Amino acid sequence: MKGVILAGGSGSRLRPLTRVVSKQLLPVYDKPMIYYPLSTLMLAGIREIMVITTPDDLDRFQGLLGDGSQWGLRIEYATQASPDGLPQGLIIAERFLAGAPSCLVLGDNVFFGTGLTPILASAATLTRGATVFTYPVKDPERYGVVQLAADGSVLSIEEKPQRALSRLAITGIYFFDGDAPAIARTLAPSARGELEITDLLREYLRRGTLSLQRLGRGVAWLDTGTHQSLLQASDFVRTIEERQGLKIACLEEIACRQGFITLDQLRAQIDTYRGSEYGEYLIRLAEEADWLAPVAPGQPNVV
Ligand code: TTP
Repeated sequence: MKGVILAGGSGSRLRPLTRVVSKQLLPVYDKPMIYYPLSTLMLAGIREIMVITTPDDLDRFQGLLGDGSQWGLRIEYATQASPDGLPQGLIIAERFLAGAPSCLVLGDNVFFGTGLTPILASAATLTRGATVFTYPVKDPERYGVVQLAADGSVLSIEEKPQRALSRLAITGIYFFDGDAPAIARTLAPSARGELEITDLLREYLRRGTLSLQRLGRGVAWLDTGTHQSLLQASDFVRTIEERQGLKIACLEEIACRQGFITLDQLRAQIDTYRGSEYGEYLIRLAEEADWLAPVAPGQPNVV
C-alpha cells in the first residue's frame, strides 16, 4: 500500500493566511498541518508516500519533508496545476502507484483517537475495492454524506447535499485498490468543474466493493479549512499535549515506535530542534526509551 497526501488546493477560505503560504504548511498548534496526515499514513504502516502540492509551494514542502528518509519513509513529490478535484490526485500519482493499492489522505485532515492505529493498519491491508471512514457531524451538508440501509450497507452517497439523509460524513482518508487511477480517468467534472471523490466512490459502490467503517466519538476527526476549525484543531492538540506530556503527530516518535527508524536515528535528529519545546520532547523520548516500545496489537493507541 502506498500513500498519497493531497496538499494542493486554493485555501480560499483561509485567506489572507493562504495568500503566500500553503494551507497545509500553516501551524496546527506546534507543527505544520501536513505532519498530521503524514502521521496518519505512518500509523497505517505506509512508508512510500507521494505529496501533491501546488507548483508554487513545491519547494517549501520539499524543504520541510525532504525525501522522508529521516523518518524511514520514501517521499516523492508531484504538482497539481489547479485544484480540479481529489480524484485528480490519483491520476497524478498513477505512475508512482504503479498498480499498487493506495491510501489517499487530505492534507488538512487531523485524525486522533483510541484504537485508531489498528483500524488504519487493517484498512491498509486492502487489495480489492475501496474503504471509506464515516464520522457523525452536526452539519453533514458541508460534506460527502452516506445513507446506510438497516443492515449497515451503503445505500447512497451524496456530495454536499441540500438536505442530508444522514449525519454520517465521509472523512478525508480513503483506501483504494489498484483500479482507482483508471476509474478516476473515466470521471467527468461536476457542475462545479471538479472531479468528485463521491463519483469515484459511487463506482466502487456500483461494483459492490465499497466498504465502510464508522468512526465514533472515541476518535477526533478535525478539519482545518476555516479560521474557526483551524483554531479549534490547535486548541485540541494543545489541550491533549499539555495534559499528557505526549505529542500528537511527532513524526520522529511515530517512526521509532513503528520500527521505521532506530532510537539512534531519532537521537541524530535532536540537534535540528534544539532550543525548542519539540527538541526537549525528543530528548526526553531518547532518555526514556521504554516509552518507545512498540504498541502491542489490540492495545490502545497512545500516539
Ligand atoms: P478543500 O477544503 O476542498 O479546498 P481548499 O483546500 O482549496 O480550500 P478552500 O475550500 O478554502 O478553497 O480541500 C481539501 C483538501 O484537499 C485540502 O488539503 C486541499 C486538498 N486539495 C487538493 O490538493 N487538490 C484539489 O484539487 C482539491 C479540491 C483539494
